[in-house]
Amino acid sequence: MFFVKLRKIIFASTNQGKFNEIFLYLKSFKIEIELVRFETLEIQSNKLEEIAFEKAKDAFDKIGRPLIVEDTGLFIDSLKGFPGPYSSYVLQTIGNQGILDLLLNKENRSAIFKTTIAYRDNNTGMTFSGTTKGMISDRITEGGWGYDPIFIPEGSSITYAQLGIENKMEISHRTQALNNFAKWYRGNFSPQ
Ligand code: IMP
Repeated sequence: MFFVKLRKIIFASTNQGKFNEIFLYLKSFKIEIELVRFETLEIQSNKLEEIAFEKAKDAFDKIGRPLIVEDTGLFIDSLKGFPGPYSSYVLQTIGNQGILDLLLNKENRSAIFKTTIAYRDNNTGMTFSGTTKGMISDRITEGGWGYDPIFIPEGSSITYAQLGIENKMEISHRTQALNNFAKWYRGNFSPQ
């Protein structure tokens, strides 16, 4: 019997919360990632796939090693998909309270969380996406990071923040994107 060891991939990001989740999940596929703190170029586009693809290209040009980056957005139905690709800026400016204020008096609180992971090496550029449907809560709950304190995934009565990282990772948008990536990666790269 021999052990399969896949090569290490860089995760280029400045977001520790994302790294913790990605590290935990890919470990179960025996894919090891290393965080390289890197502020990637972010193009303006309505499509997460395009943003992530270009981010990965930019990071690979600078780092020169096989890597993944990811881009996530929260798309709120009654706000016509806002904040979507602008989720980072919106969280930094109006924050979770600002989102709750925008939804005051709105009956429809449904939303979709979407993550796109982009992989890049010398020859390959690929994107993998995952989504989770849910609802925006009517208050900010304790714990979590980013929009976790206000996002209630479908089938749950509590937010991602209240579920905690392990339960969140069983169902999350990021897990689904990672699952698509990990299956492709393991199928395409022979172990070293
Ligand atoms: P980014 O542009 O991909 O970094 O993410 C957009 C915004 O969504 C950032 O403000 C993140 O903090 C937030 N975000 C990304 N993923 C999650 C998540 O899984 N839960 C909560 N917030 C998230």
